[in-house]
Order: sequence, then structure tokens, then C-alpha cells
Amino acid sequence: MNEYDSDLMARSMIHEGFIRVSDPVEADVILINTCAVRAKPEQKAASFLGRMRVLKNRNPSLILCVTGCMAQKEGYGFIKRFPEIDLVVGPREINRITALLKRVRTGDKVVATDLNDVPSTPAPSPGYFSGKVSGFISVMEGCNNFCAYCIVPYVRGREVSRNPDEIVAEAKDLVADGIKEITLLGQNVIAYHWQDVNFVQLLRLVSEIKGVLRLRFTTSHPKDLSDEIIRCFGTINNLCPHLHLPFQAGSDNVLMRMKRGYTRDHYMNLVRKLRAVRPDMAITSDVMVGFPGESAQDFEMTLDLIGKVRFDGLFSFKYSDRPGTLAAKLPGKIPEDEKRRRLEILQGLQKQISLEKNVQMEGNRLEVLVEGKSRKGNQLTGRTGTNKVVNIDRNIARIGDIIKVTVKQACANCLCA
Ligand code: 5AD
Ligand code: SF4
Repeated sequence: MNEYDSDLMARSMIHEGFIRVSDPVEADVILINTCAVRAKPEQKAASFLGRMRVLKNRNPSLILCVTGCMAQKEGYGFIKRFPEIDLVVGPREINRITALLKRVRTGDKVVATDLNDVPSTPAPSPGYFSGKVSGFISVMEGCNNFCAYCIVPYVRGREVSRNPDEIVAEAKDLVADGIKEITLLGQNVIAYHWQDVNFVQLLRLVSEIKGVLRLRFTTSHPKDLSDEIIRCFGTINNLCPHLHLPFQAGSDNVLMRMKRGYTRDHYMNLVRKLRAVRPDMAITSDVMVGFPGESAQDFEMTLDLIGKVRFDGLFSFKYSDRPGTLAAKLPGKIPEDEKRRRLEILQGLQKQISLEKNVQMEGNRLEVLVEGKSRKGNQLTGRTGTNKVVNIDRNIARIGDIIKVTVKQACANCLCA
């Protein structure tokens, strides 16, 4: 979502005549788009901000802006703490970035943190994504769920969906730029609805656009995953057989205190239904360890769920207190050392599962969308419909092609063809 928001700001600015530079030293304006979901991304943004403040002190005409969820959370406090900052923009105001920059250019310090309920729309920017193969479209913003640990509803506001005509037009623009794979985005994307258009209808509309070879969506909340949505994985041809479905914890006690609105059994049942519709379905998830009050048995239940579901990939985190959330006030905080210990055990288990699942693919023929050069540079890299990274010999394909390859070797993170 933040990547999409950064592009949205860049597109408005380019539309107004700004030019992108690759080295911050050359820039007249620096925007730092931040995330506040956990303490770690905040620390990263803070240390980057520290480096950019040095540039501002050397060059007072530089305009320094902080945008996104940390900007929303800190508001004017950011400027009070760091007077080098000129502009603070929350995620629901990024649409106004060029107008806000004009005000800053008159010498004002500006804080724009209204949580208004009009979704952002990118400026026309033909060619912006050329050379890229996969693109994102935000179809809804915000969240109404207030999970006990989560700061998102406070910094991104309530759910608001975009007009489907706009979404279809944006998808066509991406295809015109050469994009082959589109991911529909939202904090809880399947809660999308605009007047009488629901998420399944939107999915169909985008899937029917000529040139959309692959379609994905993320992120989905287990309490909202209906049978109708699950059936789409069997009926919409270009919908990739992959779903990211965060489970967060494997014990009903913890799920209840997290206010997630589903049980462990409900989650496991969804996994069964998805695999019944598409046996090759890849399922990935988010999980956290050390939620306040998480007992040793609760943690065992999380490991047990991971062992039973056998996820294709897992993003795992240590719980971190977010000020203002319900969980921050809960008793039973788990010491940092214990959270680290639990995380290591969990990640060890998942690594073994990922490796076993990937090794099972050795010898299989898979369809891969080629996306670019591999990190090492002498190979191409792409992804399967199930979202597995595949490195491929360079001379057999071009970027943007969908090709069939045979998996020669597997490791925990990728496949080689
Ligand atoms: N502490 C740790 N992890 C968190 N997440 C969200 N809030 C917190 C928190 N306070 C994780 C969840 C979510 C992912 C985006 O970040 O697992 O799905
Ligand atoms: Fe946060 Fe829960 Fe909303 Fe996801 S569904 S953004 S975890 S409050």
C-alpha cells in the first residue's frame, strides 16, 4: 500500500512538472513515506529522517516532508521535535501533495492530517510504469476492524471504496504501460463495496480487461472471506491461485483478546475450502508472537496451526505496543527475550515447511511470469501464479513473457529452473 501511495505522490508531482532524481543530494524536495504498523519500520524511517535532516541543515532551501502513517500519528509533534521538517502529510491527504508543496514554498510549515473520506486518485501519468510487469491498484482504503494490537484504523481512517469505473480506467492505463499482472489493494480488500458493486463483481470487471494476464488481491480478513469469493479461484481464469490470509495467532484465547472475530477452527475451515476449490492454491499469512498474555500453550497452538496448514510463506513478527491501541493497555506483557525466542522457533518451523514444499516442486513444469533480472544479474527472475520466486536461465525468455519451465532445484525462498 505504501509503495502505491509513494507512486501516487510521485505521479501527481511529475504531472505538475517535477523531475525525479535518484540521489537525495540532488533533490529540491524529499518525501519520506512512512509506516507505523510496528516499532521497527518506525525506527527505520526515523534513522532515514536523521540522514535527510543533515542534508537540510546543509541546504536550507531543501523542502523536507514526512508522509504516511507515522506522519498521521505524530502530526505537528514531528515539526516540534525536528524543525527541519517543512511538511507533514497523513495517508488520507497525499492526494493534495502538490497543493501542499505550493503552500510550503511560500514559507509556511504545513501539517495535513485530516482523515477525510474521499479516496485518493492518481494523476494521469502515461508511461510512468513502463518497464514494469506487475502493478498495484488501491481499491479501498482504511479499516473498520480495530484489532486490539493495530494502529491502522487510527492512522488510515475508516473504510472507503473507490468508484469501479475509476479502478477499471486505472487498470487499463497500467496495461497500456505494459503491466501484465495487477494486484488489487486494500487494508481489508474483500470488504470493498461501492453502491451495489461488491468485491466479487469488481474482481470480474478487472479480470475481463484485455491484457490483464494475472490478477491478485491483498490483504483479506478471514472473517470476511465468503464462499462466493472462494469460488472465484475456480471460476476466474486469470485470478492467481494464491491468497494472503493473515491468521495472527493459533489459539482462540489470543484471537479473542486480539478482537479478530474468528476462531482457529473457522480459519482452518477456510483453508480447507480454498484447497477444495483449487488443490494447487498457495496460502500465505501473517502471524505475531508475544501478544499480551500469550501463554506457552497459546504459542504451542500457533505452532500447531502452522504445522497443520503448512503455509507457502509466512510473515512473522514480535508483538509491539502501538500507543493508543487496546492491546497497549493490556496486562501480561511478554518480555522481549521471550518474544525473540518464540519468533526464532516459529521461523525455524516455517523455514523447514517452505523448504519441504519447494523441494516437492522439483521436476514440476510451472508457468512463470518473467519480471526482471535476478539479483545476481546473470539470470532472469519471475513468479509462478502461486507467487513463488523462480530464477531462470537468461537466454530462454524475455521480461513480460509467461513461460513454462521445469524446476531443477529448490531452496526455502526460491526455485531454480
Ligand atoms: N505488533 C506486531 N505486529 C503487528 N502487526 C500489526 N500490528 C502489529 C503490532 N502492534 C502485524 C500483523 C499484520 C501485519 C501487517 O503486521 O501481523 O497482519
Ligand atoms: Fe489492522 Fe485488523 Fe484492520 Fe488488519 S483488519 S488493518 S490488522 S485493524
